[in-house]
Order: sequence, then C-alpha cells, then structure tokens
Amino acid sequence: MVTVNTFKENKNKKKMTMLTAYDYMTAKNIDEAGIDSILVGDSLGMVMLGYKDTLKVTVDDMIHHGAAVVRGVENAFVVVDMPFMSYQTSVYDAVSNAGRIIKETGCQAIKLEGGRKFLPQIKAIVDAGIPVVGHLGLTPQSVNQFGGYKVQGKSKNQALELIKDCIALEEAGVFAITLECVPEKLARYITSILNVSTIGIGASNACDCQVLVWQDMTGYSDNKPAKFVKRYANLHDVEVEAFKKYKEEVENLSYPEKAHTYLINEEEFESAIKEFEENR
Ligand code: KIV
Repeated sequence: MVTVNTFKENKNKKKMTMLTAYDYMTAKNIDEAGIDSILVGDSLGMVMLGYKDTLKVTVDDMIHHGAAVVRGVENAFVVVDMPFMSYQTSVYDAVSNAGRIIKETGCQAIKLEGGRKFLPQIKAIVDAGIPVVGHLGLTPQSVNQFGGYKVQGKSKNQALELIKDCIALEEAGVFAITLECVPEKLARYITSILNVSTIGIGASNACDCQVLVWQDMTGYSDNKPAKFVKRYANLHDVEVEAFKKYKEEVENLSYPEKAHTYLINEEEFESAIKEFEENR
C-alpha cells in the first residue's frame, strides 16, 4: 500500500504517478494499472458535473465522489480536494471540513490551494493528524483573480513569491505540494530545495510525481487539451463509435442476437398462453 512514507522514501529516487478519478470503476482501473496515487480533484466540477469551473463544487460533492473512489482502491494513496470556500472562511471550517472528508470518504489525505495566506488552516489540519497536500502555481479556485488559466511564476516577483510559499507550506507540515503550470526551471529549483515531494501538472519532469486528469490523458473528452497534456488513448472516439454501432444494430435488428436472449421451455410457454387465452 502506498502511504505518506512512500512519498518521502521516493523523493530524489523514484518518480511517482498520480491520476484523478471521481468514480469507483475508474479508480479500480487506475489502481489495477499500479498508479501510486489517486486525486479526487475538484476538477470533477467540470469533467463530471458540467460546470464551467471548480467554484460550485461542494464538500458533499467531494465526499460523494471520494467515497466511491476509495471503494475501488486497494493500493493507491487517495487524496481528496477541499473545494472552494470549505477552508478559506476560517480555521474552524478548514479543520471541520477536512475531518468530514477523511471520516466520510476513507481517503488518506486532503489537498487545498494557496500559500502563506492559508498557513493557519494548513497547520491546524496537520495538527489534527490529517496529511495535507498543498497546491501552488495556477490554483483554479482563484481563476477569477488570475483572469483565466495562465502559467504562473514567469516574472521575478511571481517566482520569488512561489518559492517563499513552497517553503512556508513545507514548514507548516504538508507532505507534498502540487505545482500547476509552473515553468520548468522554477519547478526544478523548487523540487531541489524542498524535502517534501512536488507533484507536477504542467510543471515539467523535474517534479517528484506527475498528475493528470484522467479524461484528458485518455482522450475521453474531445476538448482541446492544455499544452502539458499528453493523450495516451482516444477513448472519446472509441465510445462514440460504440454508441453509434449500438444504435445502428438495434435499428436493423442485428442486436440483440440469439446469444443475448433467454429461452423458455416450449411446453411451459404453450400452457401459459393457453391458460391466458382461455380466461381472457
Ligand atoms: O482538481 C484537480 O484535478 C487538480 C489537479 C489539476 C491537480 O487539482
């Protein structure tokens, strides 16, 4: 089983893998493939619920999907995102919502976005015995502040702030930090000065672990992917083809075939019909 210690042990030794999942079946397949960790990301707002961003996702949404993922997993380490406004409002809200997520899903850790501004929340959650993953760089819950989904840390000031945030989060007790859309040199530098793992998404192969949204990397969605996404399959086309073929075969009676149908003993059938006809 992958634990927080696996992240520590693999730092500077072995690259780790993480994929998002939001349901039992996908989690089971990801676990079967030997992926180290699963993130139940608040990206579920977009890829599962059809929202335009992550802001409407609730703690109840995260718990519903997180618990389904945990039921599908034997080995992978499961992290569940804290959604928008579940920790920003107060230290009390942060600990109480992190506690609910852990208790009601059975996951091993929570992830939250933001730097030094949220140190009191992060410290309090860690003090409650809950492993925390930080999330810096492009933090999608602040999309309206960024004015869109943009690479972060490109200017001197941004880079400096990001480095300071990473160090502060490490000191506050996170065991890993997600770096989203961060230039390679900066991600490499941050990874080299931290003792905790970096989890990169659009942050180069310098990071200790990589994470991708499963619908992006399998081509399940036909949206234009972000620059950092590599498509390992084209599930969108495979699925739409299957749906079209099904429709065609139902319409032309080639599905269901004999092999898909159930039989009744001829005598039983005849006698049932006879009785029905006689009494109608
Ligand atoms: O919600 C999510 O899927 C994430 C990843 C993009 C890291 O936070």
